Amino acid sequence: MTLDEKARLVQGADFWTTAAIPSIGLRAMTLSDGPAGVRGPRWDERLPSLNLPSGSALAASWDEELAERYGVACAFEARLKGVDVVLGPTINLHRSPLGGRHFECLSEDPELTGRIGAAFVRGLQANGVAATPKHYVANDSETDRFTVDVRVDERALREVYLAPFERAVEAGAWGMMSAYNAVNGVTMTESDLLEAPLSSEWGFDGVVISDWTAVRSLDAVAAAQDLAMPGPQTSWSELASEIRAGRVDVDDLDRKVLRMLVLAERVGALGDREPIGQVVFDGAAFAREASVAGSVLLSNNGALPLDPAECRRLAVIGEPAHSPRTQGGGSATVIPERIMSPLDALRIAMPDAEVRFALGAEVSHGLAELPLNQLTNPVTGEPGVRVSFADASGSELFADDRRSSTLVWFGADAPLAQSSTLAVTAIFTPGVDGEIELGFAASNHARMSVAGSMVLEGWPIVEGMDLGAAFLQPPVLTAPVRVRSGVPVELGFEFSLGGDDGLPIEALSVAFGIAAKPQDADALIDAAARLAAESDVAVVFVGTTAEVESEGYDRSDLDLPGRQVDLVEAVIAANPNTVVIVNAGAPVILPWASRAAAVIVSYFGGQEFGPALADIVTGVVEPGGRLPTTWPRSLEDVPVANVTPVDGILNYAEGIHVGYRAWLRSGTAPAFPFGHGLGYTDWSWTSAERHGSDLVVDLLNTGHRPGKTVVQVYAERPGSVIDRPVRWLVGFAAVTAAPRERVVCRVEIDPRRLAHWDDGWKLEPGAFVLRVGSSVEDLPLSAPWEVTTQDLLGVAAAEDERNDQDA
Ligand code: BGC
Repeated sequence: MTLDEKARLVQGADFWTTAAIPSIGLRAMTLSDGPAGVRGPRWDERLPSLNLPSGSALAASWDEELAERYGVACAFEARLKGVDVVLGPTINLHRSPLGGRHFECLSEDPELTGRIGAAFVRGLQANGVAATPKHYVANDSETDRFTVDVRVDERALREVYLAPFERAVEAGAWGMMSAYNAVNGVTMTESDLLEAPLSSEWGFDGVVISDWTAVRSLDAVAAAQDLAMPGPQTSWSELASEIRAGRVDVDDLDRKVLRMLVLAERVGALGDREPIGQVVFDGAAFAREASVAGSVLLSNNGALPLDPAECRRLAVIGEPAHSPRTQGGGSATVIPERIMSPLDALRIAMPDAEVRFALGAEVSHGLAELPLNQLTNPVTGEPGVRVSFADASGSELFADDRRSSTLVWFGADAPLAQSSTLAVTAIFTPGVDGEIELGFAASNHARMSVAGSMVLEGWPIVEGMDLGAAFLQPPVLTAPVRVRSGVPVELGFEFSLGGDDGLPIEALSVAFGIAAKPQDADALIDAAARLAAESDVAVVFVGTTAEVESEGYDRSDLDLPGRQVDLVEAVIAANPNTVVIVNAGAPVILPWASRAAAVIVSYFGGQEFGPALADIVTGVVEPGGRLPTTWPRSLEDVPVANVTPVDGILNYAEGIHVGYRAWLRSGTAPAFPFGHGLGYTDWSWTSAERHGSDLVVDLLNTGHRPGKTVVQVYAERPGSVIDRPVRWLVGFAAVTAAPRERVVCRVEIDPRRLAHWDDGWKLEPGAFVLRVGSSVEDLPLSAPWEVTTQDLLGVAAAEDERNDQDA
């Protein structure tokens, strides 16, 4: 390869692809988000994707076998869309419940995150698609994410934040994404942590892909940073000339090129791609199964599953019942082909019941999309809209026929850089009479015309500094417009592009639609309570919104937005037989939880959340989830909440004490502990005994239904000479059993899980205690665990090898 070819290969050719090098038979490789389904290189409603449950729901399954199939599902989608490299899983930790991408990350625990993440990696890569665990490392919150300098001590890094990445490397990850942030003073794309431990110690031989625009300068060339994304402009654009001028070492480039070629070989970019192993995959069925597996039953006084004979009149209440959040916002977003609401799914699942709906509380802000069946493309006459990009002289450069009023170009086929304007036209046939608030969402200057007259012009104000957030959650302007039901009206939008109006990357996101007119909040609650009082059972859905949980910003509190708490209180008061479904990707405060008949946390359950929930509520299946993160009673109780840097620095002062470790140390009881979750059957925990390196746990399903439980094993070290958590997770296994069936389950305990970092991995000799049960607090069994000579020798030998590799 020539120097220019090599330099081209280590930088994005465009937003999502690497350079093709025809002289060596290398085609371009395509990269794509995301962690909960694969969007493909275009963000386009005409190319929908399977929308899987988000990260916190996946981890709530505590099921590695399921996580592996999740990876297979993503590989399948990736192969259909021509994607070689999937940018996931997201294995940063739930350090604070305020973290904006909490929904996308797996859990607060490195062992659970590491094992679920590793299984995802295996499932993807077994089908020839590279995984890119992200974001290496300590990118656990969003505030000032491009610049924040995370200060974290070596022990916490090794035992907590790096640990899931180490497991991903053990699983053979072919890619790894370096984060935007700095750690201990050095921005991650230039950090020595890319070399050690990642490459030299753990043996990572894949490609370190930068987060989008995270490579800031040529200083990252000397680091073990391999690929600068996205292109075509990167901070390495002058790489070849800098090498020719002798200012950058060509050996640094060659190392990267070699890794890129290894990746190309692995994904079949240097020749024919291996056919995918699994040719038939029912994605929707899998998404439904995964949603059930990730739904956590927090409490149940026997109300669930519903008895159809006793539930003739069902009240379904709450905005998420008809407009569920199936995924979090940001780069992880995919466009599902269809979503069935929980309300519709419950109606289908309970054909003999009278199912009535009340909104109860308005939660979402912003624009509601205009339904496709109310939009006609003026050029084709088909459902949809016409988009047209023009240059400064007004000549059309590119036009397209789209089928949505939400339009995103993210590394697009449209000539964003050359265009001065985007015009969107549609004929809108309203379904209502009267005045509506019509408007647009954009971070660009824009105008809106209705029936040929200009009615709105302005520049929505972008709040905050995060460009990603401005792009993905653009601000809204609206104007009152009178419409008549069934009478078509021509709409025109013109968005200014170029100059300082847009983002400095090839991305554009605009939308138009109707902003809801605020309704009387008390009246909505009263109506819902009345409906509940007239019903046998009420199922209330509550949740967060895109304004609360998304990439690019953190949360400021843990409250359910709007009047949802008042709503639940009123419905419980009207009918104690009230089941509450929490549709949030991260912990929210549930002050009424002890008074509800049952509470389910469904997380962001993916496109099949509705049918999955109906299956759970009607008892077709039991919910399979266990909390991957502690749920607090109040924000004030949360031991590690801080996500706001001071003078650019975010100090992880708590060290290794994050998640349940911090809760145990503080002595404060959370609302629901880590690992907690119920099913529809009961279990009796018989015994736990050591057999070699395994802990053998004997348990019995004592109930009348088949069920799942998760055997959780925590270590304790009474009288330790070092600072340790009260207990920490060292192993787990999801088990299922028929009624009255006994299960004997073996959980392998790797001595490394007992070791601590003290300038190297050290195993404290002596006796640990392993405690076993169904959450970090409910631990009926225990077994002594004496460290053996073999354990000590094993950890010491691994440590010698690590030192040799470092040297
Ligand atoms: C996110 C990454 C994502 C990338 C490409 C970034 O802003 O942090 O997780 O893969 O964008 O969409």
